[in-house]
Amino acid sequence: MAKYRICLIEGDGIGHEVIPSTRRVLDAAGFDAEYVLAEAGYEYFLDHGTSVPQATYDAVESTDATLFGAATSPSGEKPAGFFGAIRHLRQKYGLYANVRPTRTRPVPHSYENVDLVIVRENTQGLYVEQERLYGDTAIADTVITRGASERIGKFAADLAMKRSKRLTVVHKSNVLPVTQGLFMNTILNHTKTVEGLNTSTMIVDNAAMQLVRNPQQFDVMVMTNMFGDILSDLAAGLVGGLGIAASGNVGDKFGIFESVHGSAPDIAGQGISNPTASILAAVLMLDHLGDHETARRVDSAVNRVLAEGPRTRDLGGTVGNKEFTDAVIKALA
Ligand code: NAI
Ligand code: MG
Repeated sequence: MAKYRICLIEGDGIGHEVIPSTRRVLDAAGFDAEYVLAEAGYEYFLDHGTSVPQATYDAVESTDATLFGAATSPSGEKPAGFFGAIRHLRQKYGLYANVRPTRTRPVPHSYENVDLVIVRENTQGLYVEQERLYGDTAIADTVITRGASERIGKFAADLAMKRSKRLTVVHKSNVLPVTQGLFMNTILNHTKTVEGLNTSTMIVDNAAMQLVRNPQQFDVMVMTNMFGDILSDLAAGLVGGLGIAASGNVGDKFGIFESVHGSAPDIAGQGISNPTASILAAVLMLDHLGDHETARRVDSAVNRVLAEGPRTRDLGGTVGNKEFTDAVIKALA
């Protein structure tokens, strides 16, 4: 019997390319796993009328961790019955922390010496998706609770204590003192009890500018859901872009690991997607499972290919997903 059971969800678009490549890399690394394949996303919805079937819940719940590709959310008006698969799974399983590391990688135009982690509150804020229209007025709710703010604040503080003991609380409580103020103050109430932790606050618009000008100043950053969504793409752009940015959705019981990018319909089906983000999401999963040795070997192999080539087109190279994956597997050996 394999040591681990892993749920694999390709989802939509380039999810069908990056997840199989990631599995090839994990197999080549000797990761001792049995895989349970499950479905979710917009393509599944179009065929079956739901974004996530019961079999997928069963697969997520019966395995040690899940690797997720990407899921499309069509822009504009949603078809009746549709819901965003990954946002739904984050909420259903209480995956309250979305952990998005940004680290300098050996790729062209990357900033040097960046090593930060964005901790995004993953269940609330504007992403409770409660919108309504009154005539020509549209209103969206934002939900912030003390409990969820405390939970994410603790998570971020714990992570910072394992790293450089520096935490930045990113907020907009100057304009939204009730919601953003509750988030920020709840976290500050916790962090002042953590001995040795150096906590600072920063308003989100300044944080965006500071990330571009001087990302080296940051270690762990914690923020509400939408700010984390936006700033983590910005951070990815500092070190090579969405083709290499990985994330983990973690809660007390389950973990779903995925690339930061989406289903990339503009390049889906062409075989040119960069699987690095998904492979590095698997590295986060390996660390989460405690298989640090395999995690380090896969990470090093990826870094070696990023440095020496061949590279995919998003990083200025010429090869496709398969050739890049072949090179990572060769570097592992
Ligand atoms: P996207 O992340 O799919 O693509 C943005 C740009 O980056 C595109 O030009 C794409 O070709 C490029 N790109 C992304 N990943 C790449 C990779 N691995 N290799 C090479 N190039 C890559 O974001 P977009 O276009 O805004 O959204 C497309 C769909 O994905 C939407 O339906 C959106 O709702 C969904 N989405 C899903 C996410 C998830 O499942 N967690 C996250 C973000 C978007
Ligand atoms: Mg996003």
